[in-house]
Amino acid sequence: MEQPQLDWNNLGFGYKKTDFRYISHWRDGEWQEGYLTQDNHLHISEGSAALHYGQQCFEGMKAYRCKDGSINLFRPDQNAARMQRSCSRLLMPTVSTAQFIDACKQVVKANERFLPPYGTGSSLYLRPFVIGVGDNIGVRSAPEFIFCVFCIPVGALFKGVLQPSNFIISDYDRAAPNGTGAAKVGGNYAASLLPGTEARTAGFADCIYLDPLTHKKIEEVGSANFFAITYDNTFVAPRSSSVLPGITRASLIELAQSRLGLNAVEDDVYIDSLGDYKEAGACGTAAVITPIGGIHYKDRLHVFHSEHEAGPLTQRLFNELTGIQNGDIEAPAGWIEKV
Ligand SMILES: Cc1ncc(COP(=O)(O)O)c(C=O)c1O
Repeated sequence: MEQPQLDWNNLGFGYKKTDFRYISHWRDGEWQEGYLTQDNHLHISEGSAALHYGQQCFEGMKAYRCKDGSINLFRPDQNAARMQRSCSRLLMPTVSTAQFIDACKQVVKANERFLPPYGTGSSLYLRPFVIGVGDNIGVRSAPEFIFCVFCIPVGALFKGVLQPSNFIISDYDRAAPNGTGAAKVGGNYAASLLPGTEARTAGFADCIYLDPLTHKKIEEVGSANFFAITYDNTFVAPRSSSVLPGITRASLIELAQSRLGLNAVEDDVYIDSLGDYKEAGACGTAAVITPIGGIHYKDRLHVFHSEHEAGPLTQRLFNELTGIQNGDIEAPAGWIEKV
């Protein structure tokens, strides 16, 4: 297996063409048998509903090389379930969990030479997606669909020692109260491009969205979930029906309780009560855990633990999570799927 010439320790997060991607077409009322192809272009009708009406959804997950050479997928059944919910929300046919996981495994195996070595902190990012395609122009569900999974090697934002970032509260909303915020659909991300760019132009890592109904409670951090830890050691993840139910977030809620002995709850996090929290962070597949140094709101920066080092509980959660993903720490039952 010829190794690609990549600097495994400094990969960043950018598109790279890998060898194979999996494709399955929905025709005649069912998903056809999937296949691997070297062609990284899709040939679709100009009338595709994905292009005009945003009828599409996607997932993001990672494959990790373990010390013993085996390959871990982290909770892929949860990504499959979330994609099923996203598909249902946009009136698209769902992909079964078995087909989803099989597609992911095929893609990892076929692109194994791009899987970063153990110990680099890097991993193979998998991007499953479903798009509505076929000749159409009216606002209605597409006549055909494509399910595709491709992968790219990506770097770790942080290796071992976490560095906090500062964030700014956005005046924009990423989702409506009964809209599509809880589904992983492209429209949410199109809506986040301008607020994210404005936040970065102002010198922040990204923006934080407040709840769209009252603008009083923290909802989400750019394209990651928010968490905070109170002075009396309760891990809090915002309670909301418009945040994406992150798999990292759900995992941290469990690990905070079972491995760190914290209380863990879903609750409201009011923007005018940030003083209740000693640590805060952003979590997600790409972000893993990014400690939040401070939050800028109404011309003031509220600093949690520190702008320069991660809080001790945030660091312990990071070590636990990444240790499980890399196969160094025993995972809760059912969390790891070997490729
Ligand atoms: C808007 C948004 N919130 C939260 C998350 C975190 O979800 P997960 O932990 O499943 O990656 C993501 C994806 O990374 C996201 O795009």
